[in-house]
Amino acid sequence: MGKEPFKYGKPVTGKYFVNRENELKQLYDLTLAIRSGGEVNIALAGLRRTGKTSLLKNLMEKLESEKNIIVVFLDCYGIPSKNTFSKLLIEAVKDAYIEKSKDMGYKNRIVDMLKRKTSDVLSKASNMEISIAHYLSIKIGFREKTSDLWEKSLSYAEKIGNEKDVYFVVILDEFPDIAMRWGEDFVKRFRAVIQHQTTVMYLLSGSAVSYMGELVHSKSSPFYRQLNTIKVEELPPDVVKNFIMKRLNITKTILEKYVILTGGFPDYMQRLGHILFYKFGNSNITISMLNEAYREMISSLEPEFKETLNRLNSKSGVYGDIILSLPYYSVLSEIARELNISQSSLPKYLNYLINIGIVKKVGRGKYMLSDPVFNNWAKTIEHSYLGSSALQD
Ligand SMILES: Nc1ncnc2c1ncn2[C@@H]1O[C@H](COP(=O)(O)OP(=O)(O)OP(=O)(O)O)[C@@H](O)[C@H]1O
Ligand SMILES: [Mg+2]
Repeated sequence: MGKEPFKYGKPVTGKYFVNRENELKQLYDLTLAIRSGGEVNIALAGLRRTGKTSLLKNLMEKLESEKNIIVVFLDCYGIPSKNTFSKLLIEAVKDAYIEKSKDMGYKNRIVDMLKRKTSDVLSKASNMEISIAHYLSIKIGFREKTSDLWEKSLSYAEKIGNEKDVYFVVILDEFPDIAMRWGEDFVKRFRAVIQHQTTVMYLLSGSAVSYMGELVHSKSSPFYRQLNTIKVEELPPDVVKNFIMKRLNITKTILEKYVILTGGFPDYMQRLGHILFYKFGNSNITISMLNEAYREMISSLEPEFKETLNRLNSKSGVYGDIILSLPYYSVLSEIARELNISQSSLPKYLNYLINIGIVKKVGRGKYMLSDPVFNNWAKTIEHSYLGSSALQD
């Protein structure tokens, strides 16, 4: 399996990428359908660490050989403003077009115009290619601090598409992060701009699975029944076992435990494997080795888990308290009692946590954390925060 049998922390391709054949085929087929016209947009939903971005990178590799299809990838996570979104988007669209088409003239004409004064550019606008005029008018808008350029930026790809006879696949990874922050009005206007585009398809991906679900299935959503949904789930146990068996000396019994500890999350599958490989190499893996590596994995993830908790706590401490109680209590009344708040105030908080994919509903009125490793970490935190007060009770 070579020197580095595992890879984690960034999207994977090649031998590090397993399973997902169906998802990849669906994505690929839907993408190619853009050539026959019609509105095909896609929602890709999967919890954090299930491998959405990896799947997207694999799709991008597959599309490289499709001559007139240009892929634009934008990670929306943490994009602070619509203005920044616009800037990133038009540059990504322009660069992706130039790279794929090798149309250096297009690039040079833009570079030339960007050196000139605004008045000079405007006087020449009527003789330019439409898409270049469009791009430059957005750039001038930035110079002049015009607001709401984002809608105009969304039309840039369509302008190139029509003009150059090419198609665009615009991948907006972590779309819910901007959509939830910028609100319903943004989503509505976003949909209004893209719905008539015939040369651009949008692939909206997100780990806020419930938000993504509502985007497609809620009657009040601007995208109601307008998106093809593809789900990225945890890996099936056999896939995990097979992946690990090829890379470590491990028995079937211990593999069972491996599957449980990682919950089939591809990220944890690889992380835990990496630690075992580096600590114990070719030895036969024992349960105590597995437990040791698992503890090490949790502590290496601690900064990320803490950040998640802190981010939520800065909205309200109730979120943190709910998270820390969920490893122990799953029913509303129990959680409310533990938190010392009224039961009727809980759904508001729980629904938000469900929306962003941190919590899942498991049967009537029962909830749990969706990520088994986060859950185990929350357990250890609960003890260290509440251990002493629990003793006094
Ligand atoms: N198909 C796969 N086969 C094997 N490992 C995978 C696969 N997909 C993802 N992984 C592992 O999971 C890790 C996380 O994958 P990726 O970044 O694609 O997930 P994600 O769902 O986009 O996560 P996030 O929600 O954090 O953005 C990768 O670094 C890799 O270790
Ligand atoms: Mg990702």
